[in-house]
Amino acid sequence: MFYRVALWVPVLTGLLLAAGSAEAANTGNAGNGKLVYQRYCLSCHGAQGNGQGEAAEYMSIKPRDYRQGTYKWRSTPSGSLPLDSDLEHTLLNGLYGTYMPTWRALDERSRLDVIAYIKTFSPRFTTEKPQDPIIIPPDPGYSDASVARGDAVYQKYNCAQCHGAGGQGDGPSAHELKDDWGNALVPYDLTKGHVKCGDKSTDIYRVFMSGLAGTPMPTFADSLSSTDAWDLVHFIQSLSPGYAKNMAGTVASTTAGGAR
Ligand code: HEC
Ligand code: HEC
Repeated sequence: MFYRVALWVPVLTGLLLAAGSAEAANTGNAGNGKLVYQRYCLSCHGAQGNGQGEAAEYMSIKPRDYRQGTYKWRSTPSGSLPLDSDLEHTLLNGLYGTYMPTWRALDERSRLDVIAYIKTFSPRFTTEKPQDPIIIPPDPGYSDASVARGDAVYQKYNCAQCHGAGGQGDGPSAHELKDDWGNALVPYDLTKGHVKCGDKSTDIYRVFMSGLAGTPMPTFADSLSSTDAWDLVHFIQSLSPGYAKNMAGTVASTTAGGAR
């Protein structure tokens, strides 16, 4: 018996080591990331990571200042640091309607390395851990009924105060808003067919549940049920030109399955 246990120890240790290095392989190397940053990001985000690269002065939506660890597009709750996978999501998609391009052309290794590097600009990443991501239940499916309910939710939570009755970013408070860095910030025009960080329904869902840190866009996680949130997603999608028409063909098949 003792003999058998002794035999297993090195095998188990080997497995644990292998698991450990597999994890390490998914985390970037900040030293290599610095080179990627200098080549591709510095002109906008600045050598100090303060968002003041030489190209920044020409932009009305300023590049992110990384020093506070404040990131808008996260899967994590309000107040939390982002996950690496959130930052990677931003790098893959870019930020529609801003100067932040997609970095799909970079290989995965370089993306992970540059993510490790930008985290070094904020001491928060050494003292805090990101919280668990918010849970996003499956999309129950787009339908006219859901859009109508979402319209009511939009009214109830007074989204129009900032976003305007038609979602065009022209609500009564729209022109008084500033971000944490003191720059004027107008709510995004939701009728243009895209939100900034991705067009999947889950990308829209997470915006009201996590809030956009550093901006007046609040989290509604404490008051909004997931059913209301999905109706709101569908309402926002319906504001995009042609969306309802495109969905008309697909709805019948998804709702016929009894999703709702
Ligand atoms: C041409 C200018 C430009 C370049 C080059 C650029 N960015 Fe950005 N980036 C921006 C702007 C502008 C924003 C802010 C957009 C906003 O807040 O709406 C931004 C925001 C970000 C954010 C913040 C997203 C969030 O959730 O708050 C990350 C992360 C980021 N950039 C990473 C990078 C990395 C990494 C590189 C280099 C591989 C890079 N950027 C290169 C302009 C640029
Ligand atoms: C106090 C003002 C304010 C209120 C209230 C508000 N928002 Fe926002 N919202 C903003 C601002 C500002 C932005 C733009 C942030 C940016 O682009 O950096 C925004 C952005 C968004 C976006 C786009 C995110 C993206 O990735 O481009 C969506 C979707 C959104 N809000 C939905 C809502 C909904 C739904 C409600 C109500 C439940 C709501 N907002 C309430 C200020 C507000």
